[in-house]
Amino acid sequence: MDEMKKRAAHKAVEYVKDGMVLGLGTGSTTKYAIEEIGRLVSEGYELIGVPTSLETERQARSLNIPISTLEKVKRLDLTIDGADEVDPQFQLIKGLGGALLREKIIAYHSDLEIIIVDHSKIVDKLGIKTPLPVEVVPFSHGRTKEAIEELGCKATLRGESGPFITDNGNYIYDCKFDGIDNAKMLELKLDSIPGVVENGLFLEMSSHIVIGTKDGVEIRERTDQDC
Ligand code: A5P
Repeated sequence: MDEMKKRAAHKAVEYVKDGMVLGLGTGSTTKYAIEEIGRLVSEGYELIGVPTSLETERQARSLNIPISTLEKVKRLDLTIDGADEVDPQFQLIKGLGGALLREKIIAYHSDLEIIIVDHSKIVDKLGIKTPLPVEVVPFSHGRTKEAIEELGCKATLRGESGPFITDNGNYIYDCKFDGIDNAKMLELKLDSIPGVVENGLFLEMSSHIVIGTKDGVEIRERTDQDC
């Protein structure tokens, strides 16, 4: 599995050009891409990275990748990030690593969003295998959970000995649906619940999906017809 992740990550880094401002995703697949970006920096590429999590920031700093913020750079040329599920319409579930809010902000402000996955993440329909992570503010989160469950899922607060706290000081509910029929509608409904900060549906955000397989890599590029 790690080989497949690495293949996808290395292929995606071929899109990086000298001088780019990059969004740096989070997760075990993206970690390989950041290693490669670090190698480019050590070879003299002038790159700036905007991390999507504190964990990624630490890795980038350890590789001497110059770090900035979205406030300072305003726009990103390219973001490379992972995903938990990818459907045929380029719709994604993200956030099992807990970084969905920053990942979504960074994706929104990126000219190109390249998603890197191993082939196990490719699904026909979102939400059958994976729960949908939803980030909520701690205040009255039990009531927020009830409102989320009215949308047809079982919501479980993430964390074992206590709630998992995101980089933004929030909680995450992992919401198990029996498959998601209309992701756009679900996103609208989730966004309308007070207390919900963000959800892990990334719709119409990714331009390329790079899939690591046993034999190599497959690249899917989104056209307008895929939306
Ligand atoms: C982080 O919050 C997530 O969105 C990750 O991008 C996603 O979970 C993929 O992670 P892996 O590459 O570790 O599977």
